[in-house]
Amino acid sequence: MIQEKIIDLLNSMTLDEKIGQLIQITPQLYYDDTSSTAETGPIEKLGISEEHLYNIGSILNCGGAEKVKKVQDIFLSKNRLHIPLLFMADVINGFKTIFQIPLLQGCSWDLNLIQKCAEISAKEAAFSGIQVNFSPMVDLVRDSRWGRVLESTGGEDPYLGSIYAKTIVETYKSCGIASCVKHFAAYGASQSGRDYNTVDMSEREFREYYLPSYKSAIEANCDLVMTAFNILNGIPCSSNKYLMYDILRNELKFNGVVISDYSAIKETINHGYAKDSKDAALKSLNATVDIDMMSNVYYNNLKNLAFQDTNIEKLIDNAVLRVLTLKNNLGLFENPYGQLDIEKEKSYVMSSENLEIARKTTANTLVLLENKNNILPLNNNSKIALIGPYAENKGISGIWSTIFYKEIEKTITLKEGIEKKVNVDNLQIARGCHILKTSEFNNLLSSIGESCITIQNDDEMERQEFEKAINVAKNSDIIILAIGEHYKQSGEGGSRSTIELPDIQLNLLNELYKLGKPIVAVLFSGRPLAVKNFVDKVSALLWVGFPGIQGGNSIADVLFGDVNPCGKLNMSFPQSTGQCPIYYNHYSTGRPHTYNTRYASRFLDIPTYSYYPFGYGLSYSNFEYSNLVLSSDIITENSTIDLSINVKNNSNVPGYEVVQLYIQDLVGSVVRPVKELKGFKKVFFNAFEEKIISFSINNDMLKFYNHNLKFVSEAGDFKVFVGSNSRDNLWKVFSKID
Ligand code: NOJ
Repeated sequence: MIQEKIIDLLNSMTLDEKIGQLIQITPQLYYDDTSSTAETGPIEKLGISEEHLYNIGSILNCGGAEKVKKVQDIFLSKNRLHIPLLFMADVINGFKTIFQIPLLQGCSWDLNLIQKCAEISAKEAAFSGIQVNFSPMVDLVRDSRWGRVLESTGGEDPYLGSIYAKTIVETYKSCGIASCVKHFAAYGASQSGRDYNTVDMSEREFREYYLPSYKSAIEANCDLVMTAFNILNGIPCSSNKYLMYDILRNELKFNGVVISDYSAIKETINHGYAKDSKDAALKSLNATVDIDMMSNVYYNNLKNLAFQDTNIEKLIDNAVLRVLTLKNNLGLFENPYGQLDIEKEKSYVMSSENLEIARKTTANTLVLLENKNNILPLNNNSKIALIGPYAENKGISGIWSTIFYKEIEKTITLKEGIEKKVNVDNLQIARGCHILKTSEFNNLLSSIGESCITIQNDDEMERQEFEKAINVAKNSDIIILAIGEHYKQSGEGGSRSTIELPDIQLNLLNELYKLGKPIVAVLFSGRPLAVKNFVDKVSALLWVGFPGIQGGNSIADVLFGDVNPCGKLNMSFPQSTGQCPIYYNHYSTGRPHTYNTRYASRFLDIPTYSYYPFGYGLSYSNFEYSNLVLSSDIITENSTIDLSINVKNNSNVPGYEVVQLYIQDLVGSVVRPVKELKGFKKVFFNAFEEKIISFSINNDMLKFYNHNLKFVSEAGDFKVFVGSNSRDNLWKVFSKID
């Protein structure tokens, strides 16, 4: 439809019809089936009357071609102007072909891989009737206590976050599905990692670290922006006019739809920023937040507000126009079902090709953290004891997978993956223990409002399970120990004050260690865990995040050497919980930890640096770096420096290496981080192959926000580092002159 017709349509709408476009609800009111609906907030009766039900603009988390079609048909049969509903959903790491969690996808440092995961997710969702995906989540994350770090692809780095954001947005667009960048803004910086908590930071810090990934998504023409739950510098994001209007709309030129997060407009009352529901509606509308997700604030108040003030209807019109334009851009006025296709849904969703891609992409993101004496890859003829609560566990896809993926039996467990690699007579299995003691698990369940399970004789069961595991281990050459946190311990509302491995699993590990057999630990979690208290007891440690429905196959591919691991961390692993937040691109302080006195900026009981640094990850190949050369040690505004470095695969195993480039501005008009990622190359090396890898350093890489919030580079000295992670690298100094 041409844009003028959209304006005609707007002009023909009643105020009620307009306000309806600004409301998002779940589909049950049209179709009595809750199976594909996720509630991520307080479930309350919105009190929408039958009369207004057919004015609503959009639907949350309804997927499945037949279901969506039915809801759309029922709706359109009663909507006066035939304005179709818009179907929006959370397809975070896959619709039904569930990939690894985004945090693990980001460990690929591979835009093709990110693109592939996004493409399959988008197409599966689109054929199943979804028109807008609430993705990418690009919040910068530094604190492992926050349960939502699992949703971030960029992890703690704005450069990585920005290029991933762009790739995902562009991929969705090419698949005809709209993207929604979230959560604007700085949601990842919630104090102490407690979800929905306060965020307070300088504007310089915000622009330097947090804003870039959102900006990148918007520059890639992201269709929607979702507000964050938190306050930012005293004002809730969902009614923050400076953030939404001045920065987002004026500065970043975003003219798409802004949607609140789930009931976030109403929560501005709890924040103590809005006096009541009417005040909340006014403040959010003024901040140009277009859609109220799952609260009745816009529904109950906009009409009265418009009667009292004629300017309000103008604001409503602007918001409705943005929503209608989005529907029009998606072609919904011509075809209200979008790409919904019952036949394609059948043939494409979870097709064997998609599952194979999930297997490959996951294997190529797993991060090998330890491999003492090259214990990995394993020999297929070894006698293996597979032990641990994740040995046969199908809950390995992360919490977001539960919305649309219901066929959990199709998930490949670690046991099923390993069985395809070895003679099953050589494989024995024992769980050893649950992820948590039953009482601890019940605490978890009751804290998230779920019913508890019956406690049987926990101690006795524990003893028996331990005993069985030890017997199994005694008969083996090697122990694969599958451990980690429960998927319900991470994700939204999944903050934790301790991120060490649960005691029951540590006890099991200690018992097994006494047998003196090599232990290969496979670690499942939605966040970097603190592993220091057990790592000396294992020969190898493979971090698999929540690897998705092909997880068991992907892990086995790496354990047995069919895939050479190449994942590199996008988020530092801390020494202990108390070290959080921890990130590589921090400032130096006046008393750096290397200072040889008590009075230094460090902890008395742990090192200051992370346990595994950003960018870190081992391979079965052995990469050596030498001969870092700069074409010049001077750079100007318009010139560049060519950098080259020799990288050699000094092993007979072919593999990928991510060559990483970091820069430090040694002295600035405001202090600069000790290191910042400015580029990387993921390169394949044959056995014993040596290559010269080159980068070009330019003035843009030296820029930062100065005290006056101007994005500038300054004359002075810089250090450039190249290496296989943010810690181990070669370096040289160069100078910028004016
Ligand atoms: C709350 C979450 O914060 C957000 O990421 C999600 O998209 C919405 N709920 C909708 O489910």
